[in-house]
Amino acid sequence: MFFKKSIIALTGLFLCVFLVVHLSANCILLLPEDIARDAYNSYSTTLRESSFIKIIAYILYVSIIVHALYALLITLKNRKAKPQKYVLNHSKENSAWASKNMGILGTLILIFIIIHLANFWARIKLGLGEEVGMDAFGHKDVYEVTYSLFQNIYFVLFYTLISIPLALHLHHGLKSAFKTLGFYHKKGLQIIAKIALIYAVIMGVGFGIIPIIVYLK
Ligand code: HEM
Repeated sequence: MFFKKSIIALTGLFLCVFLVVHLSANCILLLPEDIARDAYNSYSTTLRESSFIKIIAYILYVSIIVHALYALLITLKNRKAKPQKYVLNHSKENSAWASKNMGILGTLILIFIIIHLANFWARIKLGLGEEVGMDAFGHKDVYEVTYSLFQNIYFVLFYTLISIPLALHLHHGLKSAFKTLGFYHKKGLQIIAKIALIYAVIMGVGFGIIPIIVYLK
C-alpha cells in the first residue's frame, strides 16, 4: 500500500510539473496571431523533434497510466475496507470520502485526457484523422488545429467545465503527495496547503479560460 501511494505521489508531482509547462506554452495562444502562430508551432515542433523531450514524453505517458492504475487499485481497496472500519472511526470516514472523491475526479480527468489526446496529440503526433496543414515556415500548424477546435462552443464548455474537477483534484492531490512522501512538519504542511491552493486555482483558471478567450478572439 505504501509503495503504491508513494508511486501515486511521485507520478502526481511529475504530472503537476508537466501541467505548469503545458499551461505556460498554451498561454502563447493568447498573444496576437502574427506572433502566436509561429511561436506555438515552433514550440510544438521542438517538442516533437527533440530526443530529450521525447524521453520526457514517454515518462509522461507512463506516469499518467501508472498514476491512474495505482489510484484505481487503492480506491477499490479502500472501498472494500470501508464497512467495518468507518463505523468506529470518523476521521477515517472523512479520508475515505476524500479518497472516493479523488477517484471520481481522477476518472473525469482521465476521460478528458483521452478525448484531449484523440483530438490533438493523435492528429498532430500520429497523423490520425484530419490532416494537419503547414504554416509559412513549414511547421505543422498546431495553432490552426487548436483555434479551429475551439470554435466549437461545446468543446470550449467541455474544457472550461473540466477545469473545475482538475483544480479540486490538484488541490487535494498536491497536499496528499507531500504527506505520503513523509513530509509531516506542521508549519511546512500549512505552507504546502497554501501553495497547493494557489497552484490549483492558477491551473483551473488558466486551462478553463484559454479556450473561452480563443473562442472569443
Ligand atoms: C487550454 C487547454 C489545452 C490546450 C490548448 C492544449 C493543447 C495541447 C496540444 C496542442 C497538444 C499536442 C502538442 C503536440 O504534440 O505538439 C497537447 C498535448 C497534451 N496535452 Fe494538452 N492542452 C490543454 C489542456 C490540457 C490539460 C488540462 C491536460 C491534462 C489534464 C493536458 C494534457 C496533455 C497531454 C498529456 C498531452 C500529450 C503531451 C505530449 O505528448 O507531448 N492538456 N495539448
